[in-house]
Amino acid sequence: AQHVERQRILDTLRLSREQLVEVKKLMSEEMVRGLSKQTHEQASVKMLPTYVRSTPDGTEHGDFLALDLGGSSFRVLLVRVRSGKKHNVDMHHKIYSIPQETMQGTGEELFSHIVDCIADFLEYMGMRGASLPLGFTFSFPCHQSKLDQNHTLTQKSLLSIEFDLNFVAVVNDTVGTMMTCGYEDSKCEVGLIVGTGTNACYMEEMHNIELVENDDGRMCVNMEWGAFGDNGELDDFCTQFDHMVDECSNNPGKQRYEKMISGMYLGEIVRNVLMDFTAKGLLFRGKLSERLKTRGIFETKFLSQIEKDRLAMRQVRSILQHLGLTSSTCDDSVLVKEVCSVVARRAAQLCGAGLAAVVDKIRQNRNLNQLSVTVGVDGTLYKTHPHFANIMQETLQDLAPQCQVTFHKSEDGSGKGAALITAVACRIKSEGQ
Ligand code: BG6
Repeated sequence: AQHVERQRILDTLRLSREQLVEVKKLMSEEMVRGLSKQTHEQASVKMLPTYVRSTPDGTEHGDFLALDLGGSSFRVLLVRVRSGKKHNVDMHHKIYSIPQETMQGTGEELFSHIVDCIADFLEYMGMRGASLPLGFTFSFPCHQSKLDQNHTLTQKSLLSIEFDLNFVAVVNDTVGTMMTCGYEDSKCEVGLIVGTGTNACYMEEMHNIELVENDDGRMCVNMEWGAFGDNGELDDFCTQFDHMVDECSNNPGKQRYEKMISGMYLGEIVRNVLMDFTAKGLLFRGKLSERLKTRGIFETKFLSQIEKDRLAMRQVRSILQHLGLTSSTCDDSVLVKEVCSVVARRAAQLCGAGLAAVVDKIRQNRNLNQLSVTVGVDGTLYKTHPHFANIMQETLQDLAPQCQVTFHKSEDGSGKGAALITAVACRIKSEGQ
């Protein structure tokens, strides 16, 4: 009876093929709504124009500075791109910490700290006074009106005054991921991140991007797809566990798709399922430990470790013990592993269904019967989880059978990618002159 009860609960986290087809359809609809001027405001998927008009063609060259503003650190990079031979990128960087006061302080304080770091870096590289094009990466949603503008960086002119730097591009990390991969594979027209959070970008036809006047060619669209579901699109697929995770998060009601997919939340879904099982006497002998009540104990690396193939049950048990869940029996370990697997599978399938909408849109845009495309991917969950990539690819193949999709792991989209976007922008500018 306990087995049946457990499976009944886990079944709520299992998605049927019909449900996945529905997710793909809903994502396709939201994409169209996000692109259209009339419905953009209400759409959950914002489909932000990035002003990136081309992927690298290999002729880019020069020295570029890239600034990568992460959570609590800031990286300044010098990226040397040589044309001719492909993959010819040479990088130097220095990491600077950002004191918490500065991070939570005013924009001016943060900006002045950034200026100090750039000064230090140029000095360190023996390049004081150098005049270089600059790319800036951010990994949070932000509207742009041109490639070199965004609302949070209105003080950028300061950079040009302090140093002789040319502010060329503001880059989203997803776009950086696509461009880094695009430098090595010209078929890469999609960028995907499945890490702490999740997001995707792809090359869209300009005439479909109603927020931008020009109708020629293509432009990369930063989907901000983590917000899919924020208008209730995913309500039919959400479980009580998703609601708990959402309610206890810092942004209830927001980023609903991301909360079912990315590393930051999967562990929390698992923990909520385990708490429910325990409360019902189906796990840990019904004893709810303080440890299990603690938010955030299951990090991404735990999800990846516990699902490793051929992991002996005593190893699973030792992982649980390491987490402070000491009273687990062998049966408990089996069940915990199953919960992790169900939650991760659903995440990979949802991600695959979203991606199916993206690649099929690219295919339909071009009136093709078959599309061959590469997706540049980054993020710890995708890269370290033993099954995520395979399940996502299976789902994608099933839901977008007319697309042959190759996945290419991408590295350092926010550093190298920012420099490459800057390089491409400079190339296009010089071609236009
Ligand atoms: C890094 C990229 O490699 O991966 C970043 O340079 C990206 O741009 C990050 O945001 C995502 O992965 P995670 O797992 O650290 O969130």
